[in-house]
Amino acid sequence: MNVLLVGSGGREHALAWKLSQSPLVSSLFVAPGNGGTALVARNVPIKDTDIDALVAFAKENACGLVVAGPEAPLVAGLSDALAGAGIPCFGPDAYSAQLEGSKAFAKQIMRLSGVPTADFEVFTDYAAAKAHVSARPLPMVVKADGLAAGKGVVVAKTRQEALDAIEDMMAARSFGAAGDKVVVEDCLVGEEASFLAFCDGKTVVPMPSCQDHKAVGEGDTGPNTGGMGAYSPAPVLPDTEWERMAKLVIEPIVRTLAEQGHPFKGVLYAGLMMTENGPGVLEYNVRFGDPECQPLLMRLESDIVPVMLACAKGELEPSLVRWSPKTALCVVMAAGGYPGSYAKGMEITGLERADQVDGAKVFVAGAALEGGTLKTTGGRVLGVSALGDTLALAQAQAYKAVAELHFDKAYFRRDIGDKGIRRLAQ
Ligand code: AMP
Ligand code: GLY
Repeated sequence: MNVLLVGSGGREHALAWKLSQSPLVSSLFVAPGNGGTALVARNVPIKDTDIDALVAFAKENACGLVVAGPEAPLVAGLSDALAGAGIPCFGPDAYSAQLEGSKAFAKQIMRLSGVPTADFEVFTDYAAAKAHVSARPLPMVVKADGLAAGKGVVVAKTRQEALDAIEDMMAARSFGAAGDKVVVEDCLVGEEASFLAFCDGKTVVPMPSCQDHKAVGEGDTGPNTGGMGAYSPAPVLPDTEWERMAKLVIEPIVRTLAEQGHPFKGVLYAGLMMTENGPGVLEYNVRFGDPECQPLLMRLESDIVPVMLACAKGELEPSLVRWSPKTALCVVMAAGGYPGSYAKGMEITGLERADQVDGAKVFVAGAALEGGTLKTTGGRVLGVSALGDTLALAQAQAYKAVAELHFDKAYFRRDIGDKGIRRLAQ
């Protein structure tokens, strides 16, 4: 079968690496791909949001499965357009993709489905939003409704910070139309965890837990990024909790969406805050996390193609999905300056030596092949991953691989996994 994968980050290299191992795949295409996907598939120069061109390509090349990496094509209707062409898509329709595309939609569907989440209000009126701030406890969280590249969330410790955020989003329109609507919600306190599940519209098969590291600096300091590292499982959410968590935060949403005529097919990702009073959902994503995808796929033992096809066709069964009991950990190497401005075009060396470290696998994120040389093109450049018998061993191997890799002004956090190791020691 021919398969088209959409996207161009570290997550997509991991997906391409896993898809390319399937005996069911004859040709694997990635649109637009990167310097890592080029090593295991054929990159095709189509933008990930050019829905018409993606569908036309999938038809012309007789693709039996299209896999959406990022959210943007799903929000733009990729899955709906493919359904019209009779091509199975791993990824939900545009209606369901609003779970990620609109914070207000996500909060309202959580309330409707009885999913635990912070108390909230939605505003389209600037004056009403500002008036609300004076009546709420601190800290409080202000969120731009639409997609804002992970930057549309402000955890405000003072009323002034909350007012400034509302002004920035609604009046100054720093995020464009994404800030015309805002959510103001209570702040949840605890440790964050990522909980993902395969869904076929009715059946839910949970994945092992993960923990991302969103802040750029060690000790979770500095501005938020797309994610500086991740590991799975996350001790804060042990395997014994999967079933309960799926019933609490995934199944109710899948049920509501099915009732509304939009069965959710693909990966549903719940960003959780593990509070003293139990878990609360901070956000949903309608795709694999990046970098969470990298450690998860290193642990996935089964062929991913039958799993994705079953999700797309409404035929998912738990027996299709098998996980390694090992721990996987991914350290993101970024261009110095990220998430602010950073240089591009730096040459990367050491990839082969890093891949030879026992248990390690380097996934390429923001880098392209130029005449056989890998050069940086983005902020998050590499996802250096490793599998180990314990979290500490996976961490040691991943950092051994990091030590083999070089590019000018490379930056990475040295504490990926430390929080989990501390929790295991308690
Ligand atoms: P989101 O894009 O909604 O996941 O928000 C990005 C980050 O903001 C999350 O990963 C949390 O660290 C933080 N955050 C969002 N909502 C809340 C909340 N209600 N309470 C505390 N922190 C939050
Ligand atoms: N790593 C967080 C995300 O993919 O949204």
